[in-house]
Amino acid sequence: MKNDVLKVLLTEEQIHERVAELGAQIAKDYADKNLLLVSVLKGSVAFMADLMRAIDIPLAIDFMAVSSYGSGVKTSGVVKIIKDLEIDLTGRDLLIVEDILDSGMTLSYIIDMLETRNPNSVRICTLLDKPERHQVDVPVEYIGFTVPDEFVIGYGLDYDERYRNLPYIGVLKPEVYESAE
Ligand code: XMP
Ligand code: MG
Repeated sequence: MKNDVLKVLLTEEQIHERVAELGAQIAKDYADKNLLLVSVLKGSVAFMADLMRAIDIPLAIDFMAVSSYGSGVKTSGVVKIIKDLEIDLTGRDLLIVEDILDSGMTLSYIIDMLETRNPNSVRICTLLDKPERHQVDVPVEYIGFTVPDEFVIGYGLDYDERYRNLPYIGVLKPEVYESAE
């Protein structure tokens, strides 16, 4: 697994520190609100698990799954709901927890859909942002790190369902996905 990593982009320590900062900020901003963390499966699972424990106020969590990508690295442009939320959103302050903001198409679609269900507010917290790749304008309240336009893996992020269990975030060697094309 490690042999497929070109370089480590963010170490465990860097991630841990930044997640603690984000959690403290969110706890402050949502102290008087009705916080519901919405994790978009599966890439955000590691981030969600760490972030929720860094937020020291009452909150609820829920999960949804969408697919915008095939097993490869390029977007298909299609967003499909694979698993919907279970909690009633009325009056809740949603914070969507995402692994990475790439084109922005996935988040843009999710926000539009969730806003029809009468939440009090909808905001976004993404661990990673790839600004060079944005295609639609999505307002993001919390960003962990800005990353260059390289395919990243680890800490929840996958290539073809692999590498999610790496404790750090790294760049995949291009030959790994080039050999699969
Ligand atoms: P969009 O383009 O809709 O895509 O913002 C967001 C989703 O695309 C996946 N994605 C990646 N997954 N490494 C990954 O493992 C990457 O570098 C990467 N770039 C985009 C991811 O599932 C994200 O939720
Ligand atoms: Mg993915």
